Amino acid sequence: MSQFITIIGTGNVAWHLAPALEQAGHVINEVYGRSEKKARLLCERLNNPVVATGLDFTESRSTLYIIAVSDNAIESVVSTIVLPEQAILVHTSGTAPMSRLQLTGLNNVGVFYPLQTISQNRDINFSELPLLIEASNVTTRKQLLETGKSLGAEITITTSEHRQDIHLAAVFANNFTNHMIDIAGQVIRQKALDVNLLKPLIRETVEKALAQNPSTAQTGPAVRGDSETMQNHIQQLEFNPRLQKLYRLISESIQYSKTGPESDS
Ligand SMILES: NC(=O)c1ccc[n+]([C@@H]2O[C@H](COP(=O)([O-])OP(=O)(O)OC[C@H]3O[C@@H](n4cnc5c(N)ncnc54)[C@H](OP(=O)(O)O)[C@@H]3O)[C@@H](O)[C@H]2O)c1
Repeated sequence: MSQFITIIGTGNVAWHLAPALEQAGHVINEVYGRSEKKARLLCERLNNPVVATGLDFTESRSTLYIIAVSDNAIESVVSTIVLPEQAILVHTSGTAPMSRLQLTGLNNVGVFYPLQTISQNRDINFSELPLLIEASNVTTRKQLLETGKSLGAEITITTSEHRQDIHLAAVFANNFTNHMIDIAGQVIRQKALDVNLLKPLIRETVEKALAQNPSTAQTGPAVRGDSETMQNHIQQLEFNPRLQKLYRLISESIQYSKTGPESDS
């Protein structure tokens, strides 16, 4: 069933989720952003919704309200928003507990968390990503499942606790990996070398880790115990003590992984 939806937030997630919902047959009724200019920009991508100038939606015809703001800002939105009694209110966070929305006093709350890295300047296909759904009751769950399915997403029903664990794992898999690639680029650029040299290596790293157990796929001086090479690397990083510390810490973690997680305790 098609829904009338209000989007709260104008960042990465809102930017892609709102048009995807429209393409799935729903109506984006209103967009609220703390910057009206950004809300207007998002509306231009859509089929002419209203730019909401506040968070009082008493007169709104929307049935689903999606909060897609920074995790830190969810609480302040929740403490201000006014919704029709039967509305469904969800957030899109990987980590904020669903109970944060229950502060509104609404019965129908939930979570609609797309498990993917989403940036405004990259296309996102919602039919290719896992969507983690949580709901406060059976009716809300049914509605959110239908909405998720309409996007073609692969849906998993979770609890707040499981979602937080998945989000923690996602931080390692995505945020930290991306940071490592960023550092690799910094090291190369420091010597005015060509960063493109690393691209085939980065691709193969991810493909191999997905194709086989990443623990057995590990190569490099730390897993081999090549201490002389590691000492040389630490010396080469003299220009940045923070990176020297990081190099030692990650090498240690690789060596612990090799001997099994029990050795950590
Ligand atoms: N990006 C991802 O990869 C990703 C993936 C899955 C889930 N999520 C979750 O989706 C949610 C939104 O993430 P995002 O990446 O879209 O964030 P984002 O791009 O940083 O956008 C954050 C949005 O929150 C608004 N905001 C910040 N503080 C606010 C406040 N005090 N009151 C009202 N609005 C406020 C920002 O407004 P301004 O633009 O005016 O600052 C902006 O519209 C987060 O809960 C995040 O955990 C993100």
